[in-house]
Amino acid sequence: MSSNDPAFVPEGVDLERPNAARIYDWFLGGDANWAIDREFGAKAVEIFPMIKTIARVGRDFLGRGVRYMANQGITQFLDLGSGVPTVGNVHEVADSVNPGSRCVYVDNEPVAVAHSQILLERDGDLNRHAVLHGDLRNPKEIWARAMETGILDPRQPIGLNMVGVLYFLSDEEDPHGVVAAYRDMLPSGSYFLSSHMTTDGVSQEGEDGSRDKIREQYKQSSTPFHVRTRAEFTRFFDGFDLVDPGVVWVPEWHPEVAESKATRKLAQDPSFSGGIAGLGRKP
Ligand SMILES: C[S@@+](CC[C@H](N)C(=O)[O-])C[C@H]1O[C@@H](n2cnc3c(N)ncnc32)[C@H](O)[C@@H]1O
Repeated sequence: MSSNDPAFVPEGVDLERPNAARIYDWFLGGDANWAIDREFGAKAVEIFPMIKTIARVGRDFLGRGVRYMANQGITQFLDLGSGVPTVGNVHEVADSVNPGSRCVYVDNEPVAVAHSQILLERDGDLNRHAVLHGDLRNPKEIWARAMETGILDPRQPIGLNMVGVLYFLSDEEDPHGVVAAYRDMLPSGSYFLSSHMTTDGVSQEGEDGSRDKIREQYKQSSTPFHVRTRAEFTRFFDGFDLVDPGVVWVPEWHPEVAESKATRKLAQDPSFSGGIAGLGRKP
């Protein structure tokens, strides 16, 4: 089954407007997208030609963060805003370090959920991997449903990922309160991995107005986004101990953990990524 099969449109999919999960999938070279997403993506590339590279850089950070946590002994992950599966999914990275790891994915886009379900049924282990259709803005409900799967043990440290997703929450939706609610439910020794878009400190070369145009463009999608300052992003880690090197540009976050061609491309000017990242550990 593929999204290119016109018969396959998972229930609840909004095909009237382009959607971040499907546009991101297109940036990464996937096929879980429709003409409306591809047209939107192509227009974004026209405005900001490096956008595909930047999407890859963001995805590669997720892999490095999971590998880093797995190397610290984390064997279970809750991945919120997990997206359409692509190369190097969380459960695959986790398994490659600690075979038998467990992972629950959550996304609010039906296409991402349907594709994850297909992948897990085909290549995963349904005793250790699950995907939920849900909205991370409801921490108590998401936590309860994730635990009901029986896959995660709430008494053992968990790697909580919110990578490339918090910028879809407006200030009115209280993203800091949302993160704090998950933090309070996490057992001690858990990790919180996140990244965010910012315009704070982006080099002159990267700040030519095209980012503003992209932000304007996304307002026409079902998923507009919001940039935040470095200080606002760092506040997401309140109550966690930030792991070295702290909050840094995405390409600067432990590039040695896994080779990434896209990340290397931005090594000279990591601020060009427009993305900042960090990992916190709950004491
Ligand atoms: C840019 S993608 C990032 C995917 C993945 N985390 C990564 O880093 O490669 C953002 C994903 O977050 C999902 N998303 C956005 N808002 C969400 C929400 N409120 N609850 C759950 N998922 C959400 C989107 O559907 C999309 O799949």
